[in-house]
Amino acid sequence: MRSILHVLPLTALLLIHASASPCKPQGTTITAQQILHVAPNSTTCASTPAITPGECATAAQAATALSTAFIKYTLTSKAKQAAVLGLITFESGEFKYNRNHYPGVPGQGTRNMQSPTFNIKYAALIAATRDQAKAVGDAPDAVLDLLITVPEYDFGSGAWFLTTQCKEPVRMALQSGSKSGWSAFIINCVGTDANNARREYWAKAVEALGA
Ligand SMILES: *[C@@H]1O[C@H](CO)[C@@H](O)[C@H](O)[C@H]1NC(C)=O
Repeated sequence: MRSILHVLPLTALLLIHASASPCKPQGTTITAQQILHVAPNSTTCASTPAITPGECATAAQAATALSTAFIKYTLTSKAKQAAVLGLITFESGEFKYNRNHYPGVPGQGTRNMQSPTFNIKYAALIAATRDQAKAVGDAPDAVLDLLITVPEYDFGSGAWFLTTQCKEPVRMALQSGSKSGWSAFIINCVGTDANNARREYWAKAVEALGA
C-alpha cells in the first residue's frame, strides 16, 4: 500500500503543514525599501525642517542601525519588529526627529521618543555609554546626547524598550501579529493612545515586513 503522503495532492500537503506548524516570519535584516513603505518621506533629508539640524536620518541609515539593533536585542519576530517600526516612524516623524520638540521635554528622545527616565536606564545598560552617563550626573539632555550620537543606540531604543521594559504577556500578544496585541502594546507598555495615526504606521510596517 502506498503512503498517504503520495496520494494527497500538493495543496493538501501544504495545508497540513501550515496547520501543523504555524511558523511566523523571523529574521533580523530590514531593508531601506521596507522602511520606505512605512516612512515614504525618509528617502532624503534634503527638506528637513531647520528646527532640527542633524536630527534627520534616511531610510538607508535607519535600515543599517535597525538591523544591528534587532541582532543585539534578539528581536527576530517580524510581528514584534513591525510594532517597533510602526512606533519609531510615528514618534520620530519618519526619522525627522530624535528629540522631543513639542513641547520640548529635556532628555526625551531617541527614535521612539522615550522619556528621560527610560533614556537614563537605557544608557546605563549600554557598556559604551554607562560611564559617560554617570559622569554627566544623569542630566537628561546630556544622556540623550550620548544616545543619539550613535545610530545603533538611537534606533535601538525601540527594540530595547520592547524586549526589556514590556511585560511578557504584552510581548507574547505582539508575536501573533494581531491588532489587539498591538493595541495592548501601545496602551499597556508604551502608555499612550492606540489611535488611528499610530495604527496606520503599524499596519504599513506589518505589510512591509510580511509580519
Ligand atoms: C511627509 O511629506 C508630506 C509632503 O511634504 C507632508 O505633508 C507630511 O506631513 C510629511 N509627513 C511627516 C510625518 O513628516
